Amino acid sequence: MKEMLQAMRDAALAAIRQAGDMEALEALRVRYLGKKGELTAVLKQMGRLSAQERPVIGQLANQIRAQVEAELDSRRAALADALLEARLKEEALDVTIPGQAPALGKKHVITTVLDEVTDIFVGMGFTIEDGPEIELTTYDFDRLNIPENHTVREWTDTFYISRDEKVHLRCQTSPVQVRVMDKTRPPIRILSPGRVYRKDEIDATHSPMFHQIEGLVVDRGITMGDLKGILNTLMQKLYGPDTVTRFRPHHFPFTEPSCEMDVQCFECRGKGCRVCKGEGWIEILGAGMVHPWVLEMSGIDPAEYSGFAFGVGLERLVMRRFNISDMRLLYENDVRFLDQF
Ligand code: DAH
Repeated sequence: MKEMLQAMRDAALAAIRQAGDMEALEALRVRYLGKKGELTAVLKQMGRLSAQERPVIGQLANQIRAQVEAELDSRRAALADALLEARLKEEALDVTIPGQAPALGKKHVITTVLDEVTDIFVGMGFTIEDGPEIELTTYDFDRLNIPENHTVREWTDTFYISRDEKVHLRCQTSPVQVRVMDKTRPPIRILSPGRVYRKDEIDATHSPMFHQIEGLVVDRGITMGDLKGILNTLMQKLYGPDTVTRFRPHHFPFTEPSCEMDVQCFECRGKGCRVCKGEGWIEILGAGMVHPWVLEMSGIDPAEYSGFAFGVGLERLVMRRFNISDMRLLYENDVRFLDQF
């Protein structure tokens, strides 16, 4: 009987060590240690043994049960480890594999140039002001000294919103000057970029919606020299230190005197070519000394204070900067075009 038990033990231990998974292991447990298992079957025959043999065999049987149980436990632990190991391997994340870069958008070229311009002015102590695109006629025309009979007030030029002509889509950023002068006292030094609207047919240089950047400085002793200094600085920072400008007399109702600023053509250096249409110069912006009446209407005493203002078309700056000849390209949102800048 002893030999039988030992043979059974050896077989059981060998089988357990080779069990490939948990189910196989459980089957072995049932086969050897279960109620109807082989060890139980042997023990049932104990009755046939002599009184001396019984305790010896009993002890051996217990020993074998313990051995088999221990072997089951250790095999179970080994299998669990292997299972975990396999899962970890399978689910492992290799952080060294290069990722797939998502296609990133970028700034529109109009925004890029606007950011450059605002940076330049913020660097000179200007703050940025915002104004409404739906504007009161009072601010856009009356308070800017634009006469009753001026063509800009016609329905063919301006997008009116109310029949009584009191509200319209602003046709320039200049009304922000009035809004700022109404609520703040000098010294004033602001820049105000934004959209403006005009009833223009779309072509290579016109659009019914475009962007302007308005500038206004009001303080004691401001002169045309300040105007020229600031605008020359802007041009040199935008287009390079050797940029040449000129100021021509002009007329705007809200400035006196008024001027337009041209830059010398980059292409021909003033000789006249296709880019500047033979002129040698390219018109960039309108400017002037704030009209005393405009100051007065905002309650600023023109005897004490003076100021200068300017308004520049942002699209024009962009087109000059990157040699873009057709404004429509800026609005068509063709990524192949916009990606170049
Ligand atoms: N508002 C003018 C326009 O749209 C541009 C302009 C000219 C703005 C002279 C000014 C200025 O502030 O002083 O044509």
